[in-house]
Amino acid sequence: MSERERVQVDEAKGPPEEDPRIAGEKHPVARMIGIGVLASLVGIAITLSIDWFPEPASTAAGKIDTLYDVLLICSVPVFVLVMTIAIYSVVRFRAKPGDTGDGAPIHGNTRLEIIWVTIPFIMVTALAIYGWVVLDDIEAKQQDELVVQVTGQQFTWTFDYPSQRIKDAKELYLPVDRPVDFRIKTKDVLHSFWVPQFRLKSDAVPGLTTKIRLTPDREGNFEVVCAELCGLGHSTMRQFVRVVPDGAFEKWAADQRQAAGGGATGGGGGGGGGEEAAAPSGEELFTSNGCAGCHTLEAAGATAKVGPDLGKLGDVDEAFIRESIVDPNAEVTKGFDSGIMPQDFNTKLSKEELDALVKYLLESQQ
Ligand code: CUA
Repeated sequence: MSERERVQVDEAKGPPEEDPRIAGEKHPVARMIGIGVLASLVGIAITLSIDWFPEPASTAAGKIDTLYDVLLICSVPVFVLVMTIAIYSVVRFRAKPGDTGDGAPIHGNTRLEIIWVTIPFIMVTALAIYGWVVLDDIEAKQQDELVVQVTGQQFTWTFDYPSQRIKDAKELYLPVDRPVDFRIKTKDVLHSFWVPQFRLKSDAVPGLTTKIRLTPDREGNFEVVCAELCGLGHSTMRQFVRVVPDGAFEKWAADQRQAAGGGATGGGGGGGGGEEAAAPSGEELFTSNGCAGCHTLEAAGATAKVGPDLGKLGDVDEAFIRESIVDPNAEVTKGFDSGIMPQDFNTKLSKEELDALVKYLLESQQ
């Protein structure tokens, strides 16, 4: 049936007897507004009563939580408005059985369209400005900042403290109430540095150094989580941040320098990197290169199960271990998949480091 024929058929039926939208409803819009307001209030009460985040532990947390609450308070009525109109329309304007005709052609309603563009525009703009003000506030430079360089790699985090002359720490120690300036990098793929109790999160992006500033304000142990799917060991990429009193932090820092063999000299210049510490041991290389993220090795206290147990390789020689590190797909242990282990240890590790790691693994066989 062509468009013209259909129009003619419609015209042949004559004008509709009565507008179905108004029949039996004295104040449909008023009733809808009533339902919407009630549903919004209930929805806001429910969303605000939910604990979305763990107990806060940084000075930024309060501002972020308030921002989040404001977003919820604004979003719920919009959601309710859309859903009320949608559900009401589906029920109220449902086609009668046997009615296969088209609806009346509508060319829009300019006033309505201006309203539903302007109000969301104002809301979104206001929220964006509010968000920007909060972000600007929590990212402001503080006095006496502690610089911590965070490095992500499959599948571990390591932490450098340039002014404390600490490199490759496996745990993140932070003095309570001191502002921290995190500089976040990755050695391989995208990761995301996140401590839920601090609220702030930042991606580690290849080729970039991203930043977070925050001040931990509660002592305790919290988890550092990787929040970006980065490979099979992603879920094991969790370490601890320990927020401790200033004295305990200084003691830990001194212990770290001691353990690193008296500590590296130099370390000025602020940029970090460059200076050579005493050669790291095989066990240190095992941990700092993320091996523990995937492998079990009793000697190093590693328990992950993504890859084979490196303490139980059976009758293997040095050449096999070396090959398995630099070319992991050459020979894959039965029961494990190829292509999982990063294939860039050949370039990540120096010759001396590779030698030390191979020797350590050979010595760790049970
Ligand atoms: Cu690193 Cu997920």
